[in-house]
Amino acid sequence: MKNRGLILTIIVLFATLIITFVFEMGKSSNVDQANTDNENKTVGILQYVSHPALNEIRRGVVDGLEENGYTEGENLTIEYQNGQADQSKLETMSQQLVQDSPDALVGIATPAAQSLANTTEDIPTVLGAVTDPVGANLVDDMDEPGGNLTGVSDKAPVDQQMKLTQELLPEAKKVGILYSSTEDNSKYQVAEATKEAEKAGYQVEDYPVPSANEITQTVQTMGDEVDMIYIPLDNTIANAMPTVVNEANQKDVPIIPSVDSMVEQGGLATIGVNQYDLGVKSGEMLADILDGDANPASTPIYTFDTGDVIVNKEQAEELNIDLPESVTDEATYVEGEDE
Ligand code: TRP
Repeated sequence: MKNRGLILTIIVLFATLIITFVFEMGKSSNVDQANTDNENKTVGILQYVSHPALNEIRRGVVDGLEENGYTEGENLTIEYQNGQADQSKLETMSQQLVQDSPDALVGIATPAAQSLANTTEDIPTVLGAVTDPVGANLVDDMDEPGGNLTGVSDKAPVDQQMKLTQELLPEAKKVGILYSSTEDNSKYQVAEATKEAEKAGYQVEDYPVPSANEITQTVQTMGDEVDMIYIPLDNTIANAMPTVVNEANQKDVPIIPSVDSMVEQGGLATIGVNQYDLGVKSGEMLADILDGDANPASTPIYTFDTGDVIVNKEQAEELNIDLPESVTDEATYVEGEDE
């Protein structure tokens, strides 16, 4: 009889062990299950055009994804498309990307994001460096986007850029703003820049170009009419920057662009957000969406509120501009690009 008690205890013990074992196995295979899910994520990236800033943003997106657990070729497939600044290409490419039903999309620059937004209202989409998502009709509200889109805005610190202009070019009186009349992203910044430049005491004139074809002629005219050229975050102008610099240099007119990459291309100086960092932040937001931790509708648009002082020393020398200490104290210097 005593033995029976012992045998029962042993049976109960074994049963407990077996149940625990099976339960633990179940748990670990659930973990495996989660990992397998991660292995099959697909993302479609639509880039508007290939200028240096957008290329840097795209590089940042891929690195931001990797830093947050999604490595291309391992547990992530990325489909890249580049619209080459062509509206009909953007439309076809958006349709192709959406047809593949990826887990998420990325639109780099406003026209690309608009084209994706016109194609799908369901697939979560991250805005890569869209200056004014509300003005471009992409989201309802910066804090509460409301639909399938959220992401990063590259809104420039225009007030700080105008202050920098005053320090670098104390004699300048008239500012000309060069931009493309077809880009929604530029409209917003031109209004901001006009307001800030007037506040700083400048006379301001707008020089919109209907397409890239008018840039040379327009910059030549500006060369005769203005003391400096201000350029917003405009893709058409960024894409034609070597031409703009070439024409402006012939008339010794300095250029203050809105971004580091355009200073590298021959602008004089700016205060701007690093383009690669913009991309990394977009990649991070995308990873949160892929993880299932973020819903675009309720994820606020991310904006950077400060930037770095970036100066092109070669341009300063070429234009005989003395760099005041207030600027050199903080400046990062970039190398000009060989054309
Ligand atoms: N903000 C631009 C847009 O909304 C895209 C952009 C990002 C850009 N970085 C830039 C344009 C640098 C010109 C230069 O479309």
